[in-house]
Amino acid sequence: GSVQSDIWFPKVEDELDLVDKTCIDFVGKLGNSYPGYDDEKYMSWCREVRSYPGSVKIDPPDVDYPADATETWNMLYTRLRDLHHKHACKEHREILKELEDLNIYSPLKIPQFSQVNKFISGKSKFKLVPVGGMINPRSFLYGLAYRVFFCTRYIRHKSVPFYTPEPDVVHEFMGHVPMFANEDFAQLNETIGKKSLGASDEVIEKLSKIYFYAVEFGVLGDSFLGSGYLGSSSEFQYVVDNKNLIRDWNLNEILESELVLSDYQPIYYKARDLLDLKRLIIEGTEQISGNL
Ligand code: TRP
Ligand code: FE
Repeated sequence: GSVQSDIWFPKVEDELDLVDKTCIDFVGKLGNSYPGYDDEKYMSWCREVRSYPGSVKIDPPDVDYPADATETWNMLYTRLRDLHHKHACKEHREILKELEDLNIYSPLKIPQFSQVNKFISGKSKFKLVPVGGMINPRSFLYGLAYRVFFCTRYIRHKSVPFYTPEPDVVHEFMGHVPMFANEDFAQLNETIGKKSLGASDEVIEKLSKIYFYAVEFGVLGDSFLGSGYLGSSSEFQYVVDNKNLIRDWNLNEILESELVLSDYQPIYYKARDLLDLKRLIIEGTEQISGNL
């Protein structure tokens, strides 16, 4: 907006390599209730994957996924595929099918950033850049302004596959990634991102809430868009079975809510369809940044 700001923000895409990459420490927060906490081999593998210093200038080398990881992916993919087929919004379903036809997605192998980036950058110029976990909201939103999606690459522990308390590669690939091939969805993300550049902490918090209830947990009419449950077979089934939890989009309510990060959502919000959601977000983000 027109308000001048002393807060640093990237002026060009390359400067995204300079953002603060601090992530929420879910392992520290949850302690021994973190799935896989006592599996030393798994935990050290995750630490290594998380530590890769991502850059917007180059795709990362492929991750070497152990057999366990691929099995978890295979089992979940098969289950989720069925739920997606029945309940995911048509934009998401169509692109998932295209990804399968191109053999970029398959139950047999966890997709790699190099292949996925080639696909989505050809569609909407969006690109995945690796980070070590759920990155802080300011940096995450700065990425969206340049059509960059900061994205994890480790996978949840096999002992608790159907719901993980923090985003992982299943959440990213079964939830977020397909929609980046849709230009309206890309624009909706970029809109939120652009409002974040140099914004106050207060505005960043509001934009995060809008992003959370729209992209992570949003609903479109009677079909499903939210990445937060599209990668979780248990929460996906839960929201499908509990439609009474779904309310009409309500910005004031959203701005007053507290985000729930590591449990099923108490409330979901819906728009009529993707274009309606895009409109609600353009208006909502205008209202927020105009107000302050
Ligand atoms: N529960 C999600 C899954 O199983 C991952 C997740 C945890 C998540 N916390 C989140 C997703 C917050 C979005 C926002 O895939
Ligand atoms: Fe997410």
